[in-house]
Amino acid sequence: RSDGFAEKEKTLAIIKPDGLYDNCTDKIKNAIFDSGFTIVKEMLIQLDEEAAMSFYAEHSSRSFFSSLVEYMTSGPVLIMVLEKENAVADWRALIGPTDASKAKITHPNSIRGMYGLDLQKNCVHGSDSPQSAQREISFFFKEKSSGSAVTEHDEL
Ligand code: PPS
Repeated sequence: RSDGFAEKEKTLAIIKPDGLYDNCTDKIKNAIFDSGFTIVKEMLIQLDEEAAMSFYAEHSSRSFFSSLVEYMTSGPVLIMVLEKENAVADWRALIGPTDASKAKITHPNSIRGMYGLDLQKNCVHGSDSPQSAQREISFFFKEKSSGSAVTEHDEL
């Protein structure tokens, strides 16, 4: 851009059942704000099996798939759309490595390092690319013309 304002980008963040259960939500949100993100949408939902399987479809052949689906449907999750310049990569950097037990050693100040437990209970999700972010945001938040896979939930 020529006007000096950097283009903002959106990414999808999820606080997983362990993050909500352990009351880490406020701490995670503070980390989000401290890093310069704006939360532009948020929605507290209980995923059903069909939605969880569809959201994680790319992992359907992995050995951990059924465990992941069971876990993600074990309690409510907080879905958020985050916005800032370079949001996708910056959110992935802020949350740290997938395996929270390793993140505690290698990235102790990351969100998973601080509030996660292991590969499954890693407290947060982040889109892994701008393409995934687009797909994941429209999965949860209806666009005017097309439907999303998750229907009729109240936004907070
Ligand atoms: S991989 O191996 O790089 O494809 O895995 P990754 O992309 O890091 O992880 C994909 C999501 O699967 C979850 N995961 C697991 N859940 C339960 N058990 C095991 N063993 C396991 N391994 C990975 C992981 O938390 C990722 O979830 P999201 O929501 O995408 O962060």
